[in-house]
Amino acid sequence: MRDSIRAIVAAIFTLTVAAPAHAEDGYRLWLRYDPLPAQIRHRYAAAATEIVVQSNGAIARSAEGELRRGLSGLLARQIPVGSSVDRDGAIVAELSKASLGDEGFTIRTTQIAGHEATVINASNERGLLYGAFALLRRFQTQQPIDHLNVRDRPKLALRMLDHWDNLNGSVERGYAGRSLWDWRTLPDWEDPRYTDYARADASIGVNGVVLNNVNAQADILTEPYLRKVAALADVFRPWAIRVYLSARFSAPIDIGGLKTADPLDPAVHAWWKAKVDEIYGVIPDFGGFLVKANSEGEPGPQDYHRTHADGANMLADALRPHGGIVLWRAFVYSSASDDRAKQAFDEFQPLDGKFANNVIVQIKSGPIDFQPREPFHPLFGAMPKTKLGMEAQITKEYLGFNTHLAYLGTMWEEVLSARTFRPQEDSRVADTLTAMAGVANTGSSRSWSGSQFDQANWYAFGRLAWDPDASAKAIAEEWTRMTWGNDPRVVNAILPMMMKSRQAVVDYMTPLGLAHLMGTDHHYGPAPWVSDLKRPEWNPVYYHRADLGGIGFDRTAAGSNALSQYAPGAMRQFTTDDYLLWFNYVPWDQKLKSGRSVWTELVWRYDRGVDEVRAMQRQWEALRGSVDDQRFDEVSAYLAIQGREAKWWRDACIAYFQSISKHPLPSGSAPPEHPLSYYEALRFPNAPAH
Ligand code: GCU
Repeated sequence: MRDSIRAIVAAIFTLTVAAPAHAEDGYRLWLRYDPLPAQIRHRYAAAATEIVVQSNGAIARSAEGELRRGLSGLLARQIPVGSSVDRDGAIVAELSKASLGDEGFTIRTTQIAGHEATVINASNERGLLYGAFALLRRFQTQQPIDHLNVRDRPKLALRMLDHWDNLNGSVERGYAGRSLWDWRTLPDWEDPRYTDYARADASIGVNGVVLNNVNAQADILTEPYLRKVAALADVFRPWAIRVYLSARFSAPIDIGGLKTADPLDPAVHAWWKAKVDEIYGVIPDFGGFLVKANSEGEPGPQDYHRTHADGANMLADALRPHGGIVLWRAFVYSSASDDRAKQAFDEFQPLDGKFANNVIVQIKSGPIDFQPREPFHPLFGAMPKTKLGMEAQITKEYLGFNTHLAYLGTMWEEVLSARTFRPQEDSRVADTLTAMAGVANTGSSRSWSGSQFDQANWYAFGRLAWDPDASAKAIAEEWTRMTWGNDPRVVNAILPMMMKSRQAVVDYMTPLGLAHLMGTDHHYGPAPWVSDLKRPEWNPVYYHRADLGGIGFDRTAAGSNALSQYAPGAMRQFTTDDYLLWFNYVPWDQKLKSGRSVWTELVWRYDRGVDEVRAMQRQWEALRGSVDDQRFDEVSAYLAIQGREAKWWRDACIAYFQSISKHPLPSGSAPPEHPLSYYEALRFPNAPAH
């Protein structure tokens, strides 16, 4: 009888406390905290009897709240919060002198006051918060929690999300709805969603957030907006997150009434100093500025014949007294260069040693622009006297927006583990970094990221920024367990889908080292034929260089020699066929390692990409009934879109390249569904986020 009453109480608790407020729309991300299966709860029962957080700051309160919410949900009973350990099985978080840095923590199974306890130690409340999430992750993924002896600390000091959100609520390259920030109702209304956003960031170690688009409006620096920014900073602070702003370099003119923004002009310097002082007056822990300068038409120091270092250092000077920093982007290109891939290196490498020590040069992962596969950016390792950050794009501008399933953990792992051979022989990209910044994929959509699987990219970004040596596969498994449950059938189906997904996109969009074949401006779908845009490097033909003789961009010494921007040892990594057409122009009939000719291999890879999506569709279909219907249906529908669009990419590109190579299709390869003219005529005036 007792047992059945208990069961009823537990069921009511589960329904009222742990059940999602909404249907399964993905809102809870990976922080789901649904009750674990009964036998697992039983296993954990003795190890989670109470929560004792012995620190009183706001961040410790966040940790305590999260532990209570998480453990009570997962274990389907209210776990009491106490002020001292008075029974076995306490979960304790307390500050200690341990030398784990500001954000590190230990989790140990030990004795406190004669009682068995699981203790999170850190020298700072931030470490306690990260330790709390790490412990919860163990419960969520059903790992053992006895005999723990965990030590962890982030390898990178700055782990940032860059939001390309505009003040009018639109999001540049955002495919997940409108901006999360409602500038109109801030600062009066602090939407609870801001807290949920901060929790999610904190759970993966993100500790800095740039609120606005790099193509910045200076208005964000005016007093009314700063009060709104301050309100967001207040919400984020208990989650150990600082806010940063994208600063428009011409702000002294735009909103300051000056005639110039010349960084060496004393009035400009004074304006920024006063502006920065004003910002710290309302946001005492403001992080600093992110700047896109002299890039894609944005203003910058070169407008006054000054260097990037002149511009960055002037802002750094204003921020230094407050502990703020400048993230200065190295994403620059123009028609003047013979090869767009070379320009950032040419402009920035000679400035090594000239940047102030509170400047971080923020470099995109590859030398062009977040393509499905690029070699790592040659600046990594080439500026040993400068702090460097890597900018990764979480939003999938070039990998199918929100409707293609593409897990980016493997892509970032590939870049982070690439060997730079500089400054040391054994250096890898990961070793050259102080920061990682991810261009966020969040928006007002209920699933945050515009699709269920794009949440994995937000998650993986944070986990890799915490530990750039972490395995993309381990991260995918962790995310899958937390997001879709621990059922081995589900995990064993989802994991291989994720692990193969990015290569599939490479194959059906830009195989063999091709890049930048997408439709102009909106970047939706294939357009390798475009050749009539004003600037040469805007045209896809600039990148693939296909003609009757062959295909590819010669970046060897015989061509643009972009290859020479890498250390000699590093070049070996680019001899695989995955980079073939990035670095080489090759005849269509040249034989490759596979035994196939370039032409045959190209078609073969396009086919492989489409086949892989079809396989993903089948693998997902087999999970019908094993995951909730709502999320299942969304993923199914999006995979169907991906299937159609993969075929569109493959057909359009093959139709086009065949019109150039004049080669017959390899036997067994289906002809494109439509003639080339059909694909060329497609127009997308309403493609999202452009
Ligand atoms: C890409 C993207 C732009 C963005 C730019 C940048 O070119 O398409 O929307 O502004 O990168 O990173 O600055």
